[in-house]
Amino acid sequence: MTDHSNDSSGKAWSGRFSEPVAELVKRYTASVPFDRRLAFHDIRGSLAHARMLAKQGIIGKDDLAAIERGMAAVKLEIETEEFQWSLDDEDVHLNIEKRLTALVGDAGKRLHTGRSRNDQVATDIRLWLREEIDGLDVLLRAYQAALLDLAEQHAATPMPGFTHLQVAQPVTFGHHLMAYFEMAARDRERLADCRKRANRLPLGAAALAGTSYPIDRAFVARELGFDGVCANSLDAVSDRDFAIEFAAAAALIMTHVSRFSEELILWMSPRIGFIDLADRFCTGSSIMPQKKNPDVPELARGKSGRVFGHLMGLLTLMKGQPLAYNKDNQEDKEPLFDTVDTVRDTLAIFADLVGGIRVRPDAMRAALRQGYATATDLADYLVKKGLPFRDAHEAVALAVRAAEEKGCDLAELGLDALRRFSPLVGEDALSVLSVEGSLASRAHLGGTAPEQVRAAIAKARQTLSRGDLLQS
Ligand code: ARG
Repeated sequence: MTDHSNDSSGKAWSGRFSEPVAELVKRYTASVPFDRRLAFHDIRGSLAHARMLAKQGIIGKDDLAAIERGMAAVKLEIETEEFQWSLDDEDVHLNIEKRLTALVGDAGKRLHTGRSRNDQVATDIRLWLREEIDGLDVLLRAYQAALLDLAEQHAATPMPGFTHLQVAQPVTFGHHLMAYFEMAARDRERLADCRKRANRLPLGAAALAGTSYPIDRAFVARELGFDGVCANSLDAVSDRDFAIEFAAAAALIMTHVSRFSEELILWMSPRIGFIDLADRFCTGSSIMPQKKNPDVPELARGKSGRVFGHLMGLLTLMKGQPLAYNKDNQEDKEPLFDTVDTVRDTLAIFADLVGGIRVRPDAMRAALRQGYATATDLADYLVKKGLPFRDAHEAVALAVRAAEEKGCDLAELGLDALRRFSPLVGEDALSVLSVEGSLASRAHLGGTAPEQVRAAIAKARQTLSRGDLLQS
């Protein structure tokens, strides 16, 4: 009889093979250099599985005790970085199982009863991702809180709102920041939603068809804090749609941060000068002594690319796979890990960066003046006096042209000049042209009037303090 533990390659499955794998193939097929990251989740999953096996009488109580003791030792070795990871053992699962067996003997070899690495790895990733989602939620909240604080300080600070990057109408800087708060709120909802579908237990599916042992999947699900079990064994081991959903949610987070970054970069350009970023988020130039570059937002904008790429990579990874598990799926980890790392670091930095934004209200107001931002308000004023909107639009357009020729704003033309474009212009027209008047007039729900912005902030604070909807 072949003794599997003593054969030439020492691999867990090498009994069937007559020659060892080629060195390059070993490296090509191994995942341990990156899936080591799942080690603690792997141990947690194994312990839950072992407890279930013992409860069901599939392994002995003494086996369970040995496994628990051995796993505690393995965990400590990993924590203290004494653990010897080996490429010979392919992945995190086999590395840990082999060490466990070396420590506790036959009980270690019994751990894999009624289980396959296929349902094991699917379980590990779900456990890991669930935890990462919870971490990202905390960071998104911190980012939101920073946006709220800055928005509150600038609930009434006028700035030009843009369409086509042309000055359009006055908004408040607080209102503008609250737009990003809303995006982050939806990002959190998406993560929470994706977490629900990720939070199901694959274990019990074994390789693909389930197992002939009298297992108790509901028990394992409870032990691991899953909301339930994956209902079909083939689906449980093979699909990674939960990972793809997560990557899509992450891509949207990066899209939003990237849009914000683009604005920060523009605002910080001396040509615009609306804000300044704290020095700790900027770098200088090695050749141009005057430069202070917004590297952090530029990198965030750039890093969105790799996250989008990972989403595309995962979709492509999945699309041609027949049921059930295929080794292709081992390729899910690096894109997922990098997605989490990138989004986590980006959000952590942005939560801090927002608090370090120095605002220049004067530059914002100067830009408003140059851009005839209240022209629409004058047109609306004429409409309220009975002029059809198209005629009002035309009259104000002519007035803007005249102001442009004189190099002044509409109010500076004076009432007499304005009346030449429409006799409906009355004494009260100048207040309509004021930025404050324009802002105050947009006092409906979701509008930019300072009182509405303050109301939006107050409501946002309530939802934010109502606490975490997620729980592990
Ligand atoms: N390292 C593998 C992965 O990440 C674990 C599952 C391997 N299963 C197998 N039958 N080779 O997907």
